[in-house]
Amino acid sequence: MNLVVVNKITELREIIKQYKKEGKTIGLVPTMGCLHKGHASLIKKSSQTCDITVVSVFVNPVQFGPNEDYDKYPRTLESDRQLAAENGACLIFAPSAAQMYPGMLKFSDITMVAPPFKLVDMMCGKSRTGHFDGVCTVVTKLFNIVQPDYAFFGMKDIQQLYIIKKMTADLNIPVEIVPCPLVREESGLALSSRNTYLSDADKKSALSISQSLFTIQNAVKNGIIDTKKLFDTAMAVMDRNVEPEYIEFVDRETFEPVEQIDRPSIAAIAARVNSVRLIDNILIGD
Ligand code: PAJ
Repeated sequence: MNLVVVNKITELREIIKQYKKEGKTIGLVPTMGCLHKGHASLIKKSSQTCDITVVSVFVNPVQFGPNEDYDKYPRTLESDRQLAAENGACLIFAPSAAQMYPGMLKFSDITMVAPPFKLVDMMCGKSRTGHFDGVCTVVTKLFNIVQPDYAFFGMKDIQQLYIIKKMTADLNIPVEIVPCPLVREESGLALSSRNTYLSDADKKSALSISQSLFTIQNAVKNGIIDTKKLFDTAMAVMDRNVEPEYIEFVDRETFEPVEQIDRPSIAAIAARVNSVRLIDNILIGD
């Protein structure tokens, strides 16, 4: 099937309406573009699950803080188009900011969707004020525009995944959220569009982020379950050019912080390498 790029909401709605009339199931893969193998795994999963896969490519201004990288975020629509097509997508929805937020002069001009404070007052939410409101707002808009049966999200952004699952349930949005495993480079580094900001030397330093998580995973397997000890174990392998922002441990079911890894849990980390903010996480305690 040929891949079509659509920029206008009205045009996309018309196309989707036709597919729905034909009884086709719709999968949505929301992205900000600069697609890599992590995104590809979501697109592939969607095209295996659904008749029609829509990939949205939109660098969402309302999820970036004033000092974040909105302007310099990589925009690579031509190569995104190729990767999406290769992995079975039928449509790319790539709206402009004016399409998505007409007349928006400032954030206070638009209706925002706010996730529960409990899920935001931890991990990435602590340093990225308003970020998850921006994510929930754009994802709700995308759900309303595309009206998918399924939506695919990566476990790379584990807090985002939990928040979107909760929002979808709380607001009775009729979309099934499908979590997809985190994809790494062979080196262990979690794939991320922001890796394009890293020099070779930065990348080498950044490797110690995933290594610290693997160290935690091994320590848990060897019976160390106290998170304070696990924190110290992780810090011991961190490269000196990496500035950790947090290492947190949460219950995999409830997403509540845990002190002992005596149940299926997640160890999550955010850290800066040469001012590039990276996140990663690993499943522990099975
Ligand atoms: P973006 O960072 O482009 O990521 C889009 C989707 O790809 C997310 O669900 C993310 O978890 C997934 N993804 C990214 N890297 C991955 C990896 N290494 N392995 C598996 N999945 C990976 O997340 C966003 O965009 C935005 O916040 C968005 C949800 C699109 C809202 O604007």
